Amino acid sequence: MRPYSTSSYLCSMEKREYIHGYTEKEQNRLIEQGRILSEFVFDRLDFSDTEKLLEVGSGVGAQTAILLEQNPDLFITGLEIETLQIEKARAFFSSLPYAESRYEFIQGDASDKKIRLKNDYDAVLFIWVLEHVVEPMAVLDNVKRFVRQGGKIFAVEVFHSSLHLYPHCPNAMLFWKNSIEYQKSIKGDADVGHRMGNLLHDAGLKDIKIAPYPMQFGKYARKKRAKMLDYWTNLMASAVPNMLKAGFTTAELWKKAEREMMALQNNDEAVFYYSFVTVEATV
Ligand SMILES: C[S@@+](CC[C@H](N)C(=O)[O-])C[C@H]1O[C@@H](n2cnc3c(N)ncnc32)[C@H](O)[C@@H]1O
Repeated sequence: MRPYSTSSYLCSMEKREYIHGYTEKEQNRLIEQGRILSEFVFDRLDFSDTEKLLEVGSGVGAQTAILLEQNPDLFITGLEIETLQIEKARAFFSSLPYAESRYEFIQGDASDKKIRLKNDYDAVLFIWVLEHVVEPMAVLDNVKRFVRQGGKIFAVEVFHSSLHLYPHCPNAMLFWKNSIEYQKSIKGDADVGHRMGNLLHDAGLKDIKIAPYPMQFGKYARKKRAKMLDYWTNLMASAVPNMLKAGFTTAELWKKAEREMMALQNNDEAVFYYSFVTVEATV
């Protein structure tokens, strides 16, 4: 599918493409993102029955670190496709004494049937992962093998079409739509959260619970609004290099989009709205 404002793009499907890339700047952004969003992301996840957790797409361990700190009885296996992320995670964890002996990071594609793990995990967790995966069903089918009978699948996933900014920001919204199209062009789905319930159903899971998580901040929540707008501008910026390369934005469009995001910061009438989706199901 074509982007909204540009005429041509290149998209190599020969190699795995990832919208944010694996630069050190991006890896540090993930760690910061984990902290900024933790009050929302973990709000509806209950790990009280979980001692052994498989975190799929664990990245640099940003969520792993928070989970281990908040849940002292937890052991986490992080399964991550990219070696650079695992190296960063191991370096990050060497400075976290509370995590000692309570984690392992292993490299692998979560859809790879050759992955061998014990089938005694209490739960599998995905946070901001399935949007990047070509076949989410293949991943769900594959990793549910490792969960004990009655164990859980938890996921916190994006629904990027839900973003709404007030007052209207035409360039920021155009840039955002183009980023959704870019994700599609590399076989991801920036709206995967919206169909998580269907995916869990098709994977044969039971007791499916869907909890859309709306975040809306206006003048009644100025601190949260400022923090979220700043975070969102950085999130958008993280996609710029790859979108530029693939022809899904121009430097001019991004400059205008960024200016609009900054103008929102200075507008007391501004309202930020976005809804991600938390889901839970039983194996
Ligand atoms: C946006 S990051 C999120 C990382 C982490 N969950 C967090 O919230 O900080 C998505 C991660 O999923 C990884 N990933 C993508 N496809 C994967 C796959 N098929 N198997 C394992 N990891 C994958 C990426 O390499 C990346 O590190």
